[in-house]
Amino acid sequence: MTHWPDSRLCDLLDIDHPIIQAPMAGASTAEMAAVVGNAGGLGSLGCAMMTASGVLDVAAKTRALSNRALNLNFFCHKSPIEDAKRAKAAQERLKPWFDKLGAGVMPDVSEGHFPFNAEICEVVLEASPKVASFHFGLPEEALVLRLKDAGIVILSSATTGAEARWLVERGADAVIAQGAEAGGHNGWFLPRSGEVAGTMALVPRVVDTVDCPVIAAGGIADGRGIAAAFALGAAGVQVGTAFLATPESVVSDIHKQTLVAATGDDTQFSQAFSGRAARTIVNDYAQAMATVTDWPDFPLMNTVTAPLRVASAKANRPDAVSLWAGQGAGLVNESTTRDVFESLVKQAQSILNK
Ligand SMILES: Cc1cc2nc3c(=O)[nH]c(=O)nc-3n(C[C@H](O)[C@H](O)[C@H](O)COP(=O)(O)O)c2cc1C
Repeated sequence: MTHWPDSRLCDLLDIDHPIIQAPMAGASTAEMAAVVGNAGGLGSLGCAMMTASGVLDVAAKTRALSNRALNLNFFCHKSPIEDAKRAKAAQERLKPWFDKLGAGVMPDVSEGHFPFNAEICEVVLEASPKVASFHFGLPEEALVLRLKDAGIVILSSATTGAEARWLVERGADAVIAQGAEAGGHNGWFLPRSGEVAGTMALVPRVVDTVDCPVIAAGGIADGRGIAAAFALGAAGVQVGTAFLATPESVVSDIHKQTLVAATGDDTQFSQAFSGRAARTIVNDYAQAMATVTDWPDFPLMNTVTAPLRVASAKANRPDAVSLWAGQGAGLVNESTTRDVFESLVKQAQSILNK
């Protein structure tokens, strides 16, 4: 058994290595989660945009490949308020992009996927994973209690000390401290006065605020980042971007190619794909929309930009694909999930056990 400086996360999640493969809606797969689980980490499925039957299918597929701990992940965002003026302005802004990329008829601004609810809770209870994790807060109290009563471990992302405290007071068993470097959507959910903190500043703040294992996330893409997270007081890490260019990831080929070529100096937050800030590799669309802030509420924009993102990826052009990636992008190579995971463990161990 490999030695880690902190065993709390391995004990809580029933894993051998305190490394969570991040749940990534639109990227993570049963194959990816199973490989990580079989290698001793926590494999995760990003289920936020799946139907109830889709969640059951992918959980069953993962189970067929691995009997290790599994994490099912969902969004708990506030339901959007529809605003006709914002919707019209967004569609007008997008029209030239639809024309340029031949993306077809622009859909209405509408809610294509929903926050975690009672129906999905039943599905999770049926799938019975070791872990359920959440982004943008937690489900309502009764649903958290149902999951906990079934013995499911609850994780959620915090971007401030106050969010971490809020999550633990409402039942989270461990907190993911998600720094600004992270790829994809930043998980903030409480009002904030300043900018989003980086992982280096956020992790010790969260460690000093809550009395549970803290998982560092954001910009960690090799063993050095993992060792640093332990030095900051984290009990483990959650890694996303490093797994995106693997054959087990289902992001588009152009996303993988752009990621492997990226330096890490070339990412930015963009609200223009979904209506919420998400870190992407800079492309023409994100750059052109960088100053626009009055988008329809998350996740309404996802429905409108979907054909644009698909058309851009189909044409193998990075122009309007949501190229989610963290600031660790410069460390990403084309490797298998197994190789990525094993080298994370090996590199971290060689630094930590010096
Ligand atoms: C492509 C992509 C999709 C993501 N989707 C989700 C998601 O569905 N749910 C979630 O909780 N976090 C999601 N995240 C954020 C990750 O959980 C994690 O915080 C992040 O990947 C860590 O930073 P890193 O990308 O620098 O490793 C996503 C990240 C990426 C890169």
